[in-house]
Amino acid sequence: MGRRNILVTGGCGFIGKALSLGLVAGGHRVRVLDNLSVQVHGPNPDLAWLEAHAIDLIKGSVCDPTACDTAVAGMDCVVHLAAETGTGQSMYELRRCVDVNATGTATVLEACCKACVKKFVLSSSRAIFGEGLWNCAVCGPVHPGIRVLRRTTGVGWNPTCPRCGSPAESMLPTPEDTDPQPVSVYGMTKLAQEQLVTLVRNNTGMDVAILRFFNVFGPGQSLRNAYTGVLGVFVNRARAGRHIDVYEDGNILRDFVHIDDVVDATKKAIGLEGPVTCNIGSGKSVSIGDAAREIIALCRSDSEITLTGKTRAGDVRGLVADIAAARKALGWEPRVDFRAGLETFVRWALASEYEDHYDESLKELSSRGLYH
Ligand SMILES: NC(=O)c1ccc[n+]([C@@H]2O[C@H](COP(=O)([O-])OP(=O)(O)OC[C@H]3O[C@@H](n4cnc5c(N)ncnc54)[C@H](O)[C@@H]3O)[C@@H](O)[C@H]2O)c1
Ligand SMILES: [Zn+2]
Repeated sequence: MGRRNILVTGGCGFIGKALSLGLVAGGHRVRVLDNLSVQVHGPNPDLAWLEAHAIDLIKGSVCDPTACDTAVAGMDCVVHLAAETGTGQSMYELRRCVDVNATGTATVLEACCKACVKKFVLSSSRAIFGEGLWNCAVCGPVHPGIRVLRRTTGVGWNPTCPRCGSPAESMLPTPEDTDPQPVSVYGMTKLAQEQLVTLVRNNTGMDVAILRFFNVFGPGQSLRNAYTGVLGVFVNRARAGRHIDVYEDGNILRDFVHIDDVVDATKKAIGLEGPVTCNIGSGKSVSIGDAAREIIALCRSDSEITLTGKTRAGDVRGLVADIAAARKALGWEPRVDFRAGLETFVRWALASEYEDHYDESLKELSSRGLYH
């Protein structure tokens, strides 16, 4: 891939910063559009790295047409990462989430169409699926919808089979063609983003890559945003010796993919010609209870785990990526194993500043009846 002018929206965030630095190292010219959201960056964001790498910052919102027009001017490619990312928060700040994620994407796309940008890469999410694919002992592979919680059914935490109603048995890898059934406002907006870029692609021929990131983790993730990034929240609690809340019975399952693998996949998608939609996960699942235990051990902490027996609105029981499409279309392979990645992440986090806003975030959810 020759040298390109690439705009990264949300380029000061966790994935955006790692990607921007990776692109500069690859010889590309990078511009960033970011509003430096206080929830993510705090009141004094670190901007020195931008200047040090000759990265242009346009401080503005993806909801502002003028900022978007300025940002996309002269760009060969736009990687759209800017978003509100809190799943639980999206369940009560609906408008904020829809404004930034749906209207913001429409605004960026409109600017791209005007400026005839050729390539657009969207960071979508596992959240578009809702629950993943599960196996039912009677019916085989099924895709359960939103869970009716244990309190009311007495059937345990796993989702029930949409065909026969029995509890789903075990999780299966979720391929890209699984019907989207988002169970959070956040997931709904990520699906809206996909639909917007697909419509634009169909009508303009803009080359579009859609990457559905699973749970991304690693050095650089925000250690002050309690609304997203469960591993960061756990490290903050563990280093302070405070108890760690693990929801439900501890067996919520997630697919954690390392930031280095996400950057690698995104670079490959930028270089690819032709439309593509891929899951970007590790293809392996980890229970949240195990992740908490490992973090406590790595932090040499005496924090205790509380299995809360409660569920947060918008959360699913489990999903794991089928990554065959990414392997084939992008020639990509996840390289960082969860345990090795967790060790470097914890080491980085323990040497970084943090602010623990977990209790506030839980209070906000509880007061709205969204954690029960
Ligand atoms: N981190 C994950 O696990 C994960 C998983 C799936 C999908 N994603 C998607 O990847 C993208 C990046 O996520 P991240 O983890 O780097 O999040 P992040 O919160 O670290 O970064 C988002 C960046 O966007 C900026 N931003 C927020 N609102 C904005 C606005 N209105 N205008 C301009 N900039 C704005 C923030 O200041 C921040 O720098 C998001 O679209 C997210 O939905 C992330
Ligand atoms: Zn069944």
